Amino acid sequence: TFVVTDNCIKCKYMDCVEVCPVDCFYEGDNMLVINPDECIDCGVCEPECPAEAILPDTQPGLESWIKLNAQYAEVWPNITSKREAPADAKAFDGVANKLEQYFS
Ligand code: SF4
Ligand code: F3S
Repeated sequence: TFVVTDNCIKCKYMDCVEVCPVDCFYEGDNMLVINPDECIDCGVCEPECPAEAILPDTQPGLESWIKLNAQYAEVWPNITSKREAPADAKAFDGVANKLEQYFS
């Protein structure tokens, strides 16, 4: 399974949605998550994210993101097509600790 991590927040480019063969992305206001029960681990979304926010769950240190993806995939709506990224997406690329300030 792959997971969406911090740098997606407020960047939300949605390129990942375009390539996922099983449509397993779910949408919050400022971020997307992957449903771990639906992800087939194909890996095609990882290089498509301009914010490099998608990582394999085998990477160390991702426990809290693995939980967050699973939790919010249950409550947020499914997203199956890309819309325009936020106008200020670039300004938020690489900003630290977005989870604490901007998660929604
Ligand atoms: Fe979708 Fe594949 Fe990415 Fe999983 S790894 S979210 S199936 S594109
Ligand atoms: Fe987020 Fe990257 Fe997708 S910024 S919406 S994980 S393309």
